[in-house]
Amino acid sequence: MNEMTNKIIGTPLDRVDGPAKVTGQATYTADYRPTGKTAEGFIVEAAAAPGKIRKIDTQAAEASDGVIAVLTHHNAPKQNPYGTPEEAGRFTQSHAMLESDHVRHVGDPVALVIAETLEQARHAAKLVRVEVETSEGTFDQFAADVEIAKPDSLDGADEVDTSTGDFEKEFAASDVTVEASYFTGAQHSAAMEPHATVAEWDGDELTVHMAIQIVAPGLKAFANTLGIEADKVRILSPFVGGGFGSKLGVHNDAILAALGAKVTGRPVRVVQTRRNVFSNAPHRSKHRQDLKIGADASGKLKAISHDSLAAMARNYPFAEAPASPTRASYFAPAIKTTHRVVEADIPRVDSMRAPGEAIGTLTFETAIDEIAEQCGIDPVEFRLQNDADRDPNSGAPLADRRLSECIREGAKKFGWDGRVTPGRRREGNKLIGRGMASAIRPNFLVPAEAEVVLSANGQLRVRLDMTDIGTGTYTILTQVAAETLAIPVDQITVELGDSHFPASSGSGGSFGAASCGSAVFDACGKLSKLLQQRLSGKGIAANAISVEGDRVRAGGNDYALADLVDDGALTVKGAVDPSEFDHGEEEYSYGALFSEVEVDVDSGEIRVRRLLGAFDAGRILNEKTARSQLMGGMIFGIGGALLEESTMDTRYGSFMNRDFAEYHIAVNRDVPELEVHMLEGFSEKSNPLGSKGIGELGICGTGPAIANAIYEATGCRVRKFPIHMEDLL
Ligand code: MOS
Repeated sequence: MNEMTNKIIGTPLDRVDGPAKVTGQATYTADYRPTGKTAEGFIVEAAAAPGKIRKIDTQAAEASDGVIAVLTHHNAPKQNPYGTPEEAGRFTQSHAMLESDHVRHVGDPVALVIAETLEQARHAAKLVRVEVETSEGTFDQFAADVEIAKPDSLDGADEVDTSTGDFEKEFAASDVTVEASYFTGAQHSAAMEPHATVAEWDGDELTVHMAIQIVAPGLKAFANTLGIEADKVRILSPFVGGGFGSKLGVHNDAILAALGAKVTGRPVRVVQTRRNVFSNAPHRSKHRQDLKIGADASGKLKAISHDSLAAMARNYPFAEAPASPTRASYFAPAIKTTHRVVEADIPRVDSMRAPGEAIGTLTFETAIDEIAEQCGIDPVEFRLQNDADRDPNSGAPLADRRLSECIREGAKKFGWDGRVTPGRRREGNKLIGRGMASAIRPNFLVPAEAEVVLSANGQLRVRLDMTDIGTGTYTILTQVAAETLAIPVDQITVELGDSHFPASSGSGGSFGAASCGSAVFDACGKLSKLLQQRLSGKGIAANAISVEGDRVRAGGNDYALADLVDDGALTVKGAVDPSEFDHGEEEYSYGALFSEVEVDVDSGEIRVRRLLGAFDAGRILNEKTARSQLMGGMIFGIGGALLEESTMDTRYGSFMNRDFAEYHIAVNRDVPELEVHMLEGFSEKSNPLGSKGIGELGICGTGPAIANAIYEATGCRVRKFPIHMEDLL
């Protein structure tokens, strides 16, 4: 066994799928070319909503060149009603499309034009005439006459509302208080690959090639929508070009493609246009967050309340939990949190990039900066002195609480030299400011299974329905298998994104690597044991083995794999059972973010100069892909602080900036010097690998570190995000 094989987990192994991606060999959904001639579908969106389709005229479209069919609610195949069965939850219930004359929101599909070519379909789509009789809709949860409700549940949080201690009493007794409302804008995930599906039927069997993050529930979504058995559906999603939550489940293109393929008897491809994505894929709702924080004169927190108000898409139960990180960030004798929603006639609202924490830490950590300043205490010191030694909300112990370590490490690496009076750092016509914030995100473990197949020739196949959404899953699973079985990396093929493979966690909630990695670890551990048993059966002592080429090494000798496998291969299944790691302690990943900004005194133009994060995510599985993920998260944090916002015309319920020219995501020019530091660790309470979730951690805390730096530069406390130059003038 060579050194590399021995210690491969954690090393910065290059992406094993990198060459396939950069040479165009990796087949993303829209690249897939079925054997039969594929027809192209183009979505016709409703221009007004909510309401009923009074008239839809498809004649001109049907007569247009190359058009094969125009699907509307008049001729679409019968489906189960949208949202049924209710108890199935949002990822598995019916996502019926074109099922009735009801138009839910602006951009809701009212027709699918299917033609020989994309150009023909797109042209004909413009010829479809639709009249919608609109009724009064709710588009803005901040409007005066809306109905505010408590949601049944929240994403990623156990409780909707919490209360410990006597908030009113502690707040009233506080020497220093901050009380303010914060606003964050609606956002769209803006993955590089738009949502796309190629669907094909073979008799009563449906195969869907699609961009999806979590495969297994998707099968049930097709079954519940189309009224077929889930085992008649196969989902293939080997490469996904970014998800960010918007591809967790089945979306409109998928159902439309399946309907189109049924009607035409041909494979049908539906690739959402960039504009489609803003109404046919989910988004993050805008929020109002009200914060009240009280501290004593020495800067000890006494009372915190955090109330969130979101919009929820009508009949689609999802709300994020911005106040949930507030429950666990710092100790205070009284902490009160609430979440409320307003059902609105808007496109689906669903998970997006650190749902809850991204916008929750953005506002809360800004308010913490403000109260630290009012107490006259450095923001680093203020956070350290209010760190919690048990869960402030539940009182439960906290596993591996390393927030203060992250703050100290970050401050040291950044060269934090204390707060200065706003406006005091200046270089020419640039005001310079520095700011920092904490990051916190719950750590999850989700059931996952994996299968490994070792052939007599020494090739190991690792199979599970996990997806790689660009994060490096193929690579880290290769590393886990290589180290656990002690087999060279180049003898391993990881196969993902096929619903015929064992069901896994999929990619989401930053739980993918830990959950799937643990399942692969279990399978490879069992395979190693099995090989040892077989050697023992032949009278060979084998306490430790390794595989190299088609030989197994044990006790200084090596033996032919062919003599140890059945019919040319050994197949072993493994799994992870999260209940075995349920130890009653609250688990989080932690970080601390530091930034330096410059603000032009004349124009108010804001530029981030430096961004640094120090993180604890337990054991790092791949130094390179982990760093890239944290950097990606921090870049989203720049977007959240300064750029990303979907602006709705609340008179009509339509998003107005539906392209990358007007929906701004951070590009190279916006990304300054980025530094990532990862604490060494092994979180033994989390899972067998000792890792914790990393994907969404970098987003948390980055936005407020920037906002707090803008404050130091300018003296402006901006309480709406993204912060624009005009907010500083
Ligand atoms: Mo994540 S927003 O659960 O993909």
